[in-house]
Amino acid sequence: MAEKLDLSFTKQEESRQGEVFFQEAPAHTGQQRLFYIESYGCQMNFSDSEIVASILGEVGFQPTREMEVADLILINTCSIREKAEETVRKRLQVFNKQKRQRPDLMIGVLGCMAERLKAKFLEEEKLVDMVVGPDAYRDLPTLVAGAEEGEKGVNVFLSREETYADISPLRLDSNGVTAFISIMRGCDNMCSFCVVPYTRGRERSRNSYSILAEAQDLYDRGYREVTLLGQNVDSYKWENPETGDVVNFAQLLEMVAQVHPDLRIRFSTSHPKDITDEVLYTMAKYENICKYIHLPVQSGNSRILKLMNRTYDREWYMDRVRAVYRIMPDCTISSDIITGFCTETEEEHQESLSMIEFAKYSMSYMFAYSERPGTPAAKKYADDVPEEVKKRRLDEVIRLQTQVSYHHNKADIGKTFKVLIEGDSRRSDQEFKGRNSQNKMIVFPKKHGLRPGDYVDVTITEATSATLRGVVKGEE
Ligand code: 5AD
Ligand code: SF4
Repeated sequence: MAEKLDLSFTKQEESRQGEVFFQEAPAHTGQQRLFYIESYGCQMNFSDSEIVASILGEVGFQPTREMEVADLILINTCSIREKAEETVRKRLQVFNKQKRQRPDLMIGVLGCMAERLKAKFLEEEKLVDMVVGPDAYRDLPTLVAGAEEGEKGVNVFLSREETYADISPLRLDSNGVTAFISIMRGCDNMCSFCVVPYTRGRERSRNSYSILAEAQDLYDRGYREVTLLGQNVDSYKWENPETGDVVNFAQLLEMVAQVHPDLRIRFSTSHPKDITDEVLYTMAKYENICKYIHLPVQSGNSRILKLMNRTYDREWYMDRVRAVYRIMPDCTISSDIITGFCTETEEEHQESLSMIEFAKYSMSYMFAYSERPGTPAAKKYADDVPEEVKKRRLDEVIRLQTQVSYHHNKADIGKTFKVLIEGDSRRSDQEFKGRNSQNKMIVFPKKHGLRPGDYVDVTITEATSATLRGVVKGEE
């Protein structure tokens, strides 16, 4: 997540696009095999790349940050909007240039775009050697071995069971303080605009005890924050095959919160139809469960929400927002908003604007609707809002959200927050950056003795729409 928010495209897939994962790799010996991986898309994709790195590690591949020395280049792709796919195609051209110079180089396409286009990818992009969907990463060593023999391979099998529960992710490009833990895969929601159910398959939850073990291991290795990831975490449900006991999301949260009071817990993404008061009360009960909820509204208008098949309406959503602030007055909420969905009128668009003010989002990820082939919306509704209208509405949404974020942040001036230090700020090695419980990024001058992974009280002195600045309490 970017320290400086670019509100035009703040979703992880854009702000982290192209970020290269690496860990220190041993020198290239000629025998050592190296892979280079780029990840696009949501946090789940970044988390998946760490699973891929672990699987490849088992067969002797080490990560490298330099594609020029890699034996294998992988690109973990996103299909959520057309723009995400265009970016991937451009990167493939760059990789293909490498391959023309080094014919032994292997190139693999992973993730959602691999799943969506399947074998077609090999026809369209002749220099790609393997196409691997999100549930088929265990097959990578076999596919790589095939590619080494010059065989092209595709595995886009979607599983009802795969959760990679037993794989210990290799933490790539890690700050050593914060980490993702994937708690479920797939999605059963069928929002009409969304390609995810087709690229990531049916929803399934991971064994609670393997999640706990991963959280404990991270804590023992010095990590101080975990983000539990799923397409819809509120529908997490794992049945213990031995006892028949069922663990729901609120119970999982509580279990992870008890790993250690100094281990912070975040989670993403919540669905407004599923987030229960039980989850909210559990959040309130534990200081180390962060007071921040990403609760995408998508649209503020009930008719559009129905067309989107979100299965809640404006009133329901507003009720959930009221419940959040009632149970946790210090909680922040963020959102995803789509402008110009099929048939959206100006009045309906106004309701998305008024929702930003009602919910007082600390920030939002905002998008113009992009029709995705094969989705229910593409099949049933005309993509009839002109592109320039979508963009203008998007600009209005961004402008309003920037103002609301600014006011939200300005109200923090003078307050003191417990901040988990993540590392140096982007601009200066004289400053640290870290987040408060509400997920706001806070930059402050370093103080002797403090290190990444420490908690420190910081008093806020300045605010923009994207960042807070402050000083360590007592140093004012
Ligand atoms: N067009 C625009 N935005 C989309 N999203 C998902 N599908 C589309 C689409 N077809 C947005 C939603 C979702 C976020 C991850 O991406 O807001 O919550
Ligand atoms: Fe993109 Fe969605 Fe796939 Fe994540 S799950 S990579 S956001 S298409």
